[in-house]
Amino acid sequence: MNNFTFYSPTEFCFGRGREQEVGQLCVKYGAHRVMIVYGGGSVVRSGLLERVKAALDAASLPYCELGGVRPNPTVPKVYEGLDLARTFKPDFMLAVGGGSVIDTAKTIAAGSYYEGDFWDFFIGKAKVGTCLPVGVVLTIPAAGSEGSGNAVITNEKTLQKLGIRQPMLLRPKFAVMNPELTMTLPEWQTASGISDMMAHIMERYLTNTPDVQIGDRMAEGMLLAIMEEAPKVIANPRDYEARANIMWCGTIAHNDTCSLGRQEDWNSHAMEHEISAEYDVTHGAGLAVIFPAFLQYMAFVHPHKVAQLAMRVLGIQPNLPTDADINNTNTWPIAEQQRVAMAGALKLKSWFHDVLHMPVSFAQLGIPQPNLELLNERLHQNKGAVMPGYFPLDAETTMKIYKLALND
Ligand code: NZQ
Ligand code: ZN
Repeated sequence: MNNFTFYSPTEFCFGRGREQEVGQLCVKYGAHRVMIVYGGGSVVRSGLLERVKAALDAASLPYCELGGVRPNPTVPKVYEGLDLARTFKPDFMLAVGGGSVIDTAKTIAAGSYYEGDFWDFFIGKAKVGTCLPVGVVLTIPAAGSEGSGNAVITNEKTLQKLGIRQPMLLRPKFAVMNPELTMTLPEWQTASGISDMMAHIMERYLTNTPDVQIGDRMAEGMLLAIMEEAPKVIANPRDYEARANIMWCGTIAHNDTCSLGRQEDWNSHAMEHEISAEYDVTHGAGLAVIFPAFLQYMAFVHPHKVAQLAMRVLGIQPNLPTDADINNTNTWPIAEQQRVAMAGALKLKSWFHDVLHMPVSFAQLGIPQPNLELLNERLHQNKGAVMPGYFPLDAETTMKIYKLALND
Protein backbone atom coordinates (compact mmCIF):
# COMPACT_ATOMS: atom_id res chain seq x y z
CA MET A 1 0.00 0.00 0.00
CA ASN A 2 1.26 3.49 -0.86
CA ASN A 3 1.48 6.37 1.62
CA PHE A 4 -1.67 8.48 1.76
CA THR A 5 -3.37 11.43 3.47
CA PHE A 6 -7.12 11.22 3.92
CA TYR A 7 -9.05 14.33 4.93
CA SER A 8 -12.82 14.00 4.82
CA PRO A 9 -14.42 16.60 7.09
CA THR A 10 -17.96 16.33 5.71
CA GLU A 11 -20.75 15.84 8.26
CA PHE A 12 -23.25 13.48 6.64
CA CYS A 13 -26.81 13.87 7.97
CA PHE A 14 -28.63 10.87 6.57
CA GLY A 15 -32.27 9.84 6.72
CA ARG A 16 -35.88 10.95 6.59
CA GLY A 17 -36.63 14.62 7.21
CA ARG A 18 -33.03 15.68 7.74
CA GLU A 19 -33.40 18.67 5.39
CA GLN A 20 -35.25 20.42 8.21
CA GLU A 21 -31.87 20.80 9.93
CA VAL A 22 -30.24 22.68 7.09
CA GLY A 23 -30.54 26.12 8.71
CA GLN A 24 -28.86 24.97 11.93
CA LEU A 25 -26.17 23.20 9.93
CA CYS A 26 -25.36 26.35 7.96
CA VAL A 27 -25.06 28.29 11.24
CA LYS A 28 -22.88 25.55 12.74
CA TYR A 29 -20.44 25.93 9.84
CA GLY A 30 -20.21 29.70 10.10
CA ALA A 31 -22.91 30.99 7.73
CA HIS A 32 -24.28 34.53 8.04
CA ARG A 33 -25.38 35.02 4.43
CA VAL A 34 -26.20 32.09 2.18
CA MET A 35 -26.30 31.65 -1.60
CA ILE A 36 -28.69 28.82 -2.50
CA VAL A 37 -27.81 27.08 -5.79
CA TYR A 38 -30.26 24.76 -7.55
CA GLY A 39 -31.04 23.22 -10.92
CA GLY A 40 -33.73 23.34 -13.57
CA GLY A 41 -36.75 23.05 -11.32
CA SER A 42 -37.08 19.59 -9.75
CA VAL A 43 -36.52 21.06 -6.27
CA VAL A 44 -39.17 23.70 -6.93
CA ARG A 45 -41.73 21.12 -8.10
CA SER A 46 -41.05 18.79 -5.16
CA GLY A 47 -41.39 21.61 -2.60
CA LEU A 48 -37.86 20.97 -1.30
CA LEU A 49 -36.65 24.49 -2.10
CA GLU A 50 -39.48 25.98 -0.04
CA ARG A 51 -38.60 23.71 2.89
CA VAL A 52 -34.94 24.69 2.65
CA LYS A 53 -35.84 28.38 2.61
CA ALA A 54 -38.11 27.89 5.61
CA ALA A 55 -35.23 26.25 7.48
CA LEU A 56 -32.93 29.20 6.64
CA ASP A 57 -35.65 31.67 7.72
CA ALA A 58 -36.01 29.80 11.00
CA ALA A 59 -32.27 30.17 11.54
CA SER A 60 -32.53 33.93 10.68
CA LEU A 61 -30.18 33.52 7.73
CA PRO A 62 -30.57 35.90 4.78
CA TYR A 63 -30.16 34.22 1.41
CA CYS A 64 -30.02 34.81 -2.34
CA GLU A 65 -30.86 32.28 -5.05
CA LEU A 66 -29.07 31.04 -8.14
CA GLY A 67 -31.38 28.67 -10.01
CA GLY A 68 -31.23 27.13 -13.47
CA VAL A 69 -28.03 25.09 -13.24
CA ARG A 70 -28.23 22.58 -16.08
CA PRO A 71 -26.84 19.03 -16.20
CA ASN A 72 -23.21 19.07 -17.43
CA PRO A 73 -22.98 22.55 -15.87
CA THR A 74 -21.31 25.28 -17.88
CA VAL A 75 -19.08 28.32 -17.44
CA PRO A 76 -21.72 31.11 -17.86
CA LYS A 77 -23.71 29.93 -14.81
CA VAL A 78 -20.54 30.16 -12.72
CA TYR A 79 -19.96 33.73 -13.94
CA GLU A 80 -23.59 34.54 -13.09
CA GLY A 81 -23.02 33.15 -9.60
CA LEU A 82 -19.79 35.12 -9.18
CA ASP A 83 -21.61 38.33 -10.21
CA LEU A 84 -24.35 37.60 -7.70
CA ALA A 85 -21.74 36.88 -5.03
CA ARG A 86 -20.11 40.28 -5.63
CA THR A 87 -23.37 42.07 -4.83
CA PHE A 88 -24.92 39.78 -2.19
CA LYS A 89 -21.61 38.86 -0.49
CA PRO A 90 -22.53 35.40 0.80
CA ASP A 91 -20.20 33.67 3.24
CA PHE A 92 -21.73 30.24 2.62
CA MET A 93 -22.80 28.28 -0.50
CA LEU A 94 -25.73 25.90 -0.21
CA ALA A 95 -26.19 23.46 -3.10
CA VAL A 96 -29.65 21.87 -3.34
CA GLY A 97 -29.51 19.21 -6.06
CA GLY A 98 -27.10 16.81 -7.70
CA GLY A 99 -23.55 16.83 -8.99
CA SER A 100 -24.14 19.63 -11.48
CA VAL A 101 -25.51 21.97 -8.82
CA ILE A 102 -22.88 21.01 -6.24
CA ASP A 103 -20.02 21.47 -8.71
CA THR A 104 -21.34 24.88 -9.74
CA ALA A 105 -21.59 25.89 -6.06
CA LYS A 106 -18.06 24.60 -5.36
CA THR A 107 -16.65 26.50 -8.34
CA ILE A 108 -18.33 29.76 -7.30
CA ALA A 109 -17.00 29.13 -3.79
CA ALA A 110 -13.48 28.77 -5.17
CA GLY A 111 -13.78 31.60 -7.72
CA SER A 112 -15.03 34.10 -5.11
CA TYR A 113 -11.51 34.53 -3.72
CA TYR A 114 -9.70 34.57 -7.05
CA GLU A 115 -8.87 37.78 -8.92
CA GLY A 116 -8.47 36.08 -12.31
CA ASP A 117 -10.79 33.92 -14.40
CA PHE A 118 -11.97 30.85 -12.45
CA TRP A 119 -11.41 28.73 -15.60
CA ASP A 120 -7.68 29.04 -14.82
CA PHE A 121 -8.25 26.39 -12.10
CA PHE A 122 -9.58 23.93 -14.66
CA ILE A 123 -6.83 24.36 -17.23
CA GLY A 124 -4.10 24.12 -14.61
CA LYS A 125 -3.11 27.81 -14.79
CA ALA A 126 -3.93 28.42 -11.12
CA LYS A 127 -4.69 26.38 -8.00
CA VAL A 128 -7.58 27.05 -5.64
CA GLY A 129 -6.02 28.78 -2.63
CA THR A 130 -9.07 29.36 -0.46
CA CYS A 131 -12.79 28.97 -0.89
CA LEU A 132 -16.15 29.66 0.73
CA PRO A 133 -17.63 26.78 2.74
CA VAL A 134 -20.16 24.65 0.86
CA GLY A 135 -23.12 22.68 2.24
CA VAL A 136 -25.28 20.24 0.29
CA VAL A 137 -28.85 18.95 0.24
CA LEU A 138 -28.50 15.99 -2.12
CA THR A 139 -31.33 14.96 -4.45
CA ILE A 140 -29.64 12.36 -6.69
CA PRO A 141 -27.11 9.67 -5.81
CA ALA A 142 -24.62 9.66 -8.67
CA ALA A 143 -21.63 11.99 -8.95
CA GLY A 144 -20.61 11.68 -5.29
CA SER A 145 -19.75 15.38 -5.21
CA GLU A 146 -21.40 15.67 -1.77
CA GLY A 147 -18.36 13.88 -0.33
CA SER A 148 -15.71 14.48 -2.95
CA GLY A 149 -13.06 17.14 -3.31
CA ASN A 150 -13.83 17.50 -7.01
CA ALA A 151 -15.80 19.77 -9.32
CA VAL A 152 -16.43 19.32 -13.06
CA ILE A 153 -17.43 22.18 -15.40
CA THR A 154 -17.99 22.33 -19.17
CA ASN A 155 -16.67 25.20 -21.25
CA GLU A 156 -19.00 25.31 -24.24
CA LYS A 157 -16.75 27.72 -26.14
CA THR A 158 -13.71 25.45 -26.09
CA LEU A 159 -15.83 22.27 -25.80
CA GLN A 160 -13.78 21.16 -22.81
CA LYS A 161 -15.31 19.32 -19.86
CA LEU A 162 -12.66 19.45 -17.16
CA GLY A 163 -12.39 18.74 -13.46
CA ILE A 164 -10.46 19.99 -10.46
CA ARG A 165 -9.57 17.81 -7.49
CA GLN A 166 -8.58 19.48 -4.22
CA PRO A 167 -9.92 17.41 -1.32
CA MET A 168 -8.38 19.64 1.36
CA LEU A 169 -10.55 22.55 0.17
CA LEU A 170 -13.49 21.35 -1.90
CA ARG A 171 -15.14 18.70 0.25
CA PRO A 172 -18.45 20.05 1.56
CA LYS A 173 -18.85 20.92 5.24
CA PHE A 174 -22.07 18.95 5.45
CA ALA A 175 -24.32 16.88 3.23
CA VAL A 176 -27.97 16.30 4.05
CA MET A 177 -29.02 12.99 2.51
CA ASN A 178 -32.68 12.02 2.71
CA PRO A 179 -33.36 8.98 0.48
CA GLU A 180 -37.02 10.06 0.18
CA LEU A 181 -35.84 13.07 -1.85
CA THR A 182 -34.61 10.69 -4.56
CA MET A 183 -37.99 8.99 -5.07
CA THR A 184 -39.02 11.54 -7.73
CA LEU A 185 -36.07 10.66 -9.96
CA PRO A 186 -36.99 9.30 -13.39
CA GLU A 187 -35.63 5.82 -14.10
CA TRP A 188 -33.10 7.23 -16.57
CA GLN A 189 -31.49 9.45 -13.92
CA THR A 190 -31.59 6.72 -11.26
CA ALA A 191 -29.90 4.26 -13.62
CA SER A 192 -27.37 6.80 -14.92
CA GLY A 193 -26.46 7.60 -11.32
CA ILE A 194 -25.96 3.92 -10.53
CA SER A 195 -23.73 3.48 -13.61
CA ASP A 196 -21.67 6.49 -12.53
CA MET A 197 -21.13 5.30 -8.96
CA MET A 198 -20.17 1.83 -10.20
CA ALA A 199 -17.60 3.40 -12.53
CA HIS A 200 -16.24 5.45 -9.62
CA ILE A 201 -15.64 2.24 -7.69
CA MET A 202 -14.21 0.25 -10.60
CA GLU A 203 -11.86 3.02 -11.70
CA ARG A 204 -10.34 2.92 -8.25
CA TYR A 205 -10.31 -0.86 -8.31
CA LEU A 206 -8.24 -1.03 -11.52
CA THR A 207 -4.77 -0.60 -10.09
CA ASN A 208 -1.35 -2.14 -10.28
CA THR A 209 -0.58 -1.28 -6.66
CA PRO A 210 -0.13 -4.60 -4.84
CA ASP A 211 -1.45 -5.50 -1.37
CA VAL A 212 -4.49 -3.23 -1.24
CA GLN A 213 -6.88 -5.85 0.10
CA ILE A 214 -8.95 -3.45 2.23
CA GLY A 215 -9.76 -1.20 -0.71
CA ASP A 216 -10.37 -4.16 -3.01
CA ARG A 217 -12.76 -5.89 -0.62
CA MET A 218 -14.61 -2.66 0.17
CA ALA A 219 -15.01 -2.01 -3.56
CA GLU A 220 -16.22 -5.55 -4.23
CA GLY A 221 -18.69 -5.33 -1.35
CA MET A 222 -20.07 -2.02 -2.60
CA LEU A 223 -20.45 -3.32 -6.14
CA LEU A 224 -22.22 -6.47 -4.95
CA ALA A 225 -24.56 -4.38 -2.80
CA ILE A 226 -25.35 -1.99 -5.66
CA MET A 227 -26.08 -4.90 -8.01
CA GLU A 228 -28.45 -6.34 -5.41
CA GLU A 229 -30.25 -3.06 -4.66
CA ALA A 230 -30.40 -1.59 -8.17
CA PRO A 231 -33.12 -3.92 -9.53
CA LYS A 232 -35.24 -3.05 -6.48
CA VAL A 233 -35.20 0.71 -7.14
CA ILE A 234 -35.80 0.16 -10.84
CA ALA A 235 -38.81 -2.03 -10.02
CA ASN A 236 -40.10 0.21 -7.23
CA PRO A 237 -38.80 3.81 -7.15
CA ARG A 238 -40.44 4.28 -3.74
CA ASP A 239 -38.51 1.45 -2.03
CA TYR A 240 -36.98 3.48 0.82
CA GLU A 241 -34.44 0.90 1.96
CA ALA A 242 -33.11 0.24 -1.53
CA ARG A 243 -32.97 4.00 -2.21
CA ALA A 244 -31.10 4.45 1.09
CA ASN A 245 -28.51 1.81 0.25
CA ILE A 246 -27.93 3.22 -3.22
CA MET A 247 -27.70 6.76 -1.87
CA TRP A 248 -25.03 5.99 0.71
CA CYS A 249 -23.14 3.86 -1.78
CA GLY A 250 -22.97 6.78 -4.22
CA THR A 251 -21.16 8.79 -1.56
CA ILE A 252 -18.63 6.21 -0.40
CA ALA A 253 -18.00 5.19 -4.01
CA HIS A 254 -16.39 8.57 -4.57
CA ASN A 255 -15.15 9.92 -1.23
CA ASP A 256 -11.87 8.00 -1.66
CA THR A 257 -12.31 5.47 1.15
CA CYS A 258 -11.83 2.53 -1.22
CA SER A 259 -8.91 4.04 -3.13
CA LEU A 260 -6.56 5.06 -0.34
CA GLY A 261 -2.96 3.99 -0.80
CA ARG A 262 -3.26 2.99 -4.44
CA GLN A 263 -2.79 4.25 -7.96
CA GLU A 264 -6.18 4.89 -9.60
CA ASP A 265 -7.32 4.92 -13.21
CA TRP A 266 -9.61 7.73 -14.40
CA ASN A 267 -9.14 7.23 -18.11
CA SER A 268 -12.63 5.95 -18.88
CA HIS A 269 -14.03 9.04 -17.12
CA ALA A 270 -11.77 11.23 -19.24
CA MET A 271 -13.02 9.43 -22.37
CA GLU A 272 -16.64 9.92 -21.30
CA HIS A 273 -16.11 13.60 -20.53
CA GLU A 274 -15.18 14.11 -24.20
CA ILE A 275 -18.49 12.48 -25.21
CA SER A 276 -20.58 14.62 -22.86
CA ALA A 277 -18.64 17.77 -23.83
CA GLU A 278 -19.38 17.22 -27.54
CA TYR A 279 -22.81 15.57 -27.45
CA ASP A 280 -24.17 16.74 -24.07
CA VAL A 281 -25.19 13.24 -22.95
CA THR A 282 -25.96 12.23 -19.36
CA HIS A 283 -22.59 11.46 -17.73
CA GLY A 284 -23.58 8.07 -16.23
CA ALA A 285 -25.15 6.92 -19.50
CA GLY A 286 -21.95 7.82 -21.33
CA LEU A 287 -20.06 5.70 -18.83
CA ALA A 288 -22.39 2.72 -19.40
CA VAL A 289 -21.21 2.90 -23.01
CA ILE A 290 -17.51 3.54 -22.45
CA PHE A 291 -16.73 1.51 -19.35
CA PRO A 292 -17.56 -1.97 -20.73
CA ALA A 293 -15.56 -1.10 -23.88
CA PHE A 294 -12.67 -0.02 -21.67
CA LEU A 295 -12.89 -3.29 -19.69
CA GLN A 296 -12.97 -5.36 -22.88
CA TYR A 297 -9.78 -3.72 -24.06
CA MET A 298 -8.11 -4.21 -20.67
CA ALA A 299 -9.23 -7.84 -20.65
CA PHE A 300 -7.08 -8.28 -23.70
CA VAL A 301 -3.98 -6.17 -22.90
CA HIS A 302 -3.77 -6.14 -19.08
CA PRO A 303 -6.29 -8.55 -17.62
CA HIS A 304 -5.21 -9.40 -14.05
CA LYS A 305 -7.40 -6.96 -12.13
CA VAL A 306 -10.31 -7.24 -14.54
CA ALA A 307 -10.20 -11.00 -14.05
CA GLN A 308 -10.32 -10.49 -10.27
CA LEU A 309 -13.36 -8.23 -10.65
CA ALA A 310 -14.99 -10.74 -12.98
CA MET A 311 -14.46 -13.62 -10.56
CA ARG A 312 -15.30 -11.90 -7.29
CA VAL A 313 -18.13 -9.58 -8.36
CA LEU A 314 -19.52 -10.84 -11.65
CA GLY A 315 -19.49 -14.55 -10.81
CA ILE A 316 -17.20 -15.77 -13.61
CA GLN A 317 -15.55 -19.06 -12.61
CA PRO A 318 -11.90 -19.64 -13.58
CA ASN A 319 -10.71 -23.04 -14.81
CA LEU A 320 -7.50 -23.56 -12.85
CA PRO A 321 -5.44 -26.48 -11.54
CA THR A 322 -6.48 -27.48 -7.99
CA ASP A 323 -3.21 -26.17 -6.48
CA ALA A 324 -3.55 -22.73 -8.15
CA ASP A 325 -3.63 -19.52 -6.06
CA ILE A 326 -7.16 -18.54 -7.03
CA ASN A 327 -7.01 -15.13 -5.31
CA ASN A 328 -3.85 -14.05 -7.08
CA THR A 329 -4.90 -13.60 -10.68
CA ASN A 330 -1.34 -12.55 -11.57
CA THR A 331 -0.29 -16.19 -11.16
CA TRP A 332 -2.95 -17.54 -13.55
CA PRO A 333 -2.01 -18.43 -17.13
CA ILE A 334 -2.49 -15.27 -19.19
CA ALA A 335 -5.05 -16.91 -21.48
CA GLU A 336 -7.23 -17.77 -18.48
CA GLN A 337 -6.91 -14.23 -17.10
CA GLN A 338 -8.07 -12.95 -20.48
CA ARG A 339 -10.96 -15.40 -20.77
CA VAL A 340 -12.35 -14.63 -17.31
CA ALA A 341 -11.78 -10.89 -17.72
CA MET A 342 -13.55 -10.78 -21.10
CA ALA A 343 -16.49 -12.81 -19.80
CA GLY A 344 -16.75 -10.34 -16.90
CA ALA A 345 -16.63 -7.29 -19.18
CA LEU A 346 -19.42 -8.70 -21.35
CA LYS A 347 -21.49 -9.68 -18.33
CA LEU A 348 -21.26 -6.16 -16.93
CA LYS A 349 -22.30 -4.74 -20.30
CA SER A 350 -25.37 -7.01 -20.38
CA TRP A 351 -26.19 -6.06 -16.80
CA PHE A 352 -26.14 -2.33 -17.62
CA HIS A 353 -28.40 -3.02 -20.58
CA ASP A 354 -30.80 -5.61 -19.17
CA VAL A 355 -31.13 -4.47 -15.54
CA LEU A 356 -30.54 -0.71 -15.71
CA HIS A 357 -31.92 -0.29 -19.25
CA MET A 358 -28.88 1.81 -20.05
CA PRO A 359 -27.44 2.34 -23.53
CA VAL A 360 -24.26 0.30 -24.06
CA SER A 361 -23.16 1.60 -27.48
CA PHE A 362 -22.86 4.99 -29.17
CA ALA A 363 -25.92 4.23 -31.31
CA GLN A 364 -28.01 3.34 -28.25
CA LEU A 365 -26.81 6.59 -26.65
CA GLY A 366 -28.35 8.42 -29.61
CA ILE A 367 -25.09 9.04 -31.47
CA PRO A 368 -25.21 6.70 -34.49
CA GLN A 369 -22.20 8.32 -36.17
CA PRO A 370 -19.86 9.73 -33.53
CA ASN A 371 -16.87 11.74 -34.68
CA LEU A 372 -14.33 9.49 -32.97
CA GLU A 373 -11.32 11.27 -34.48
CA LEU A 374 -12.47 14.55 -32.94
CA LEU A 375 -13.18 12.98 -29.53
CA ASN A 376 -9.83 11.24 -29.52
CA GLU A 377 -7.92 14.33 -30.58
CA ARG A 378 -9.49 16.47 -27.87
CA LEU A 379 -8.95 13.71 -25.30
CA HIS A 380 -5.21 13.74 -25.83
CA GLN A 381 -5.08 17.53 -26.09
CA ASN A 382 -6.63 17.69 -22.63
CA LYS A 383 -4.92 14.68 -21.04
CA GLY A 384 -1.57 14.40 -22.82
CA ALA A 385 -0.16 12.08 -25.47
CA VAL A 386 -0.06 9.12 -23.09
CA MET A 387 -2.59 8.87 -20.28
CA PRO A 388 -1.09 7.03 -17.31
CA GLY A 389 -3.08 4.63 -15.13
CA TYR A 390 -3.75 0.91 -14.89
CA PHE A 391 -2.52 0.64 -18.47
CA PRO A 392 -0.96 3.63 -20.32
CA LEU A 393 -3.16 4.78 -23.18
CA ASP A 394 -1.91 6.57 -26.28
CA ALA A 395 -4.08 7.86 -29.13
CA GLU A 396 -4.03 4.53 -30.94
CA THR A 397 -5.29 2.59 -27.92
CA THR A 398 -8.00 5.08 -26.92
CA MET A 399 -9.26 4.98 -30.51
CA LYS A 400 -9.55 1.19 -30.23
CA ILE A 401 -11.63 1.62 -27.05
CA TYR A 402 -13.89 4.24 -28.66
CA LYS A 403 -14.37 1.84 -31.59
CA LEU A 404 -15.32 -1.02 -29.25
CA ALA A 405 -18.09 1.28 -27.94
CA LEU A 406 -19.65 1.27 -31.43
CA ASN A 407 -20.80 -2.33 -30.87
CA ASP A 408 -24.24 -2.97 -29.34
O1 NZQ B 1 -32.03 20.32 -12.78
P1 NZQ B 1 -33.14 19.65 -12.06
O2 NZQ B 1 -34.48 20.12 -12.48
O3 NZQ B 1 -32.95 19.63 -10.58
O4 NZQ B 1 -33.13 18.09 -12.59
C1 NZQ B 1 -32.03 17.24 -12.41
C2 NZQ B 1 -31.23 17.03 -13.68
O5 NZQ B 1 -32.05 17.18 -14.81
C3 NZQ B 1 -32.55 15.86 -12.13
N1 NZQ B 1 -32.81 15.61 -10.72
C4 NZQ B 1 -31.95 15.69 -9.69
N2 NZQ B 1 -32.54 15.31 -8.56
C5 NZQ B 1 -33.84 15.01 -8.86
C6 NZQ B 1 -34.01 15.21 -10.24
N3 NZQ B 1 -35.20 14.99 -10.87
C7 NZQ B 1 -36.22 14.54 -10.11
N4 NZQ B 1 -36.10 14.31 -8.78
C8 NZQ B 1 -34.94 14.53 -8.12
N5 NZQ B 1 -34.82 14.25 -6.82
O6 NZQ B 1 -31.51 14.98 -12.54
C9 NZQ B 1 -30.82 15.58 -13.62
C10 NZQ B 1 -29.34 15.34 -13.44
O7 NZQ B 1 -28.83 16.11 -12.39
P2 NZQ B 1 -27.24 16.27 -12.24
O8 NZQ B 1 -26.97 17.13 -11.08
O9 NZQ B 1 -26.66 16.67 -13.55
O10 NZQ B 1 -26.80 14.74 -11.96
P3 NZQ B 1 -25.50 14.12 -11.38
O11 NZQ B 1 -25.53 14.12 -9.90
O12 NZQ B 1 -25.34 12.86 -12.09
O13 NZQ B 1 -24.31 15.13 -11.80
C11 NZQ B 1 -23.68 15.02 -13.05
C12 NZQ B 1 -22.54 16.00 -13.14
O14 NZQ B 1 -21.54 15.71 -12.15
C13 NZQ B 1 -20.26 15.54 -12.80
C14 NZQ B 1 -20.67 14.98 -14.14
O15 NZQ B 1 -19.63 15.03 -15.09
C15 NZQ B 1 -21.84 15.86 -14.50
O16 NZQ B 1 -21.40 17.13 -14.94
N6 NZQ B 1 -19.40 14.73 -11.96
C16 NZQ B 1 -18.93 15.29 -10.84
C17 NZQ B 1 -18.07 14.63 -9.99
C18 NZQ B 1 -17.58 15.25 -8.74
N7 NZQ B 1 -17.79 16.54 -8.54
O17 NZQ B 1 -16.95 14.61 -7.90
C19 NZQ B 1 -17.59 13.28 -10.31
C20 NZQ B 1 -18.35 12.59 -11.37
O18 NZQ B 1 -17.52 11.62 -11.96
C21 NZQ B 1 -18.91 13.46 -12.44
O19 NZQ B 1 -17.95 13.71 -13.47
ZN1 ZN C 1 -18.56 10.07 -12.68
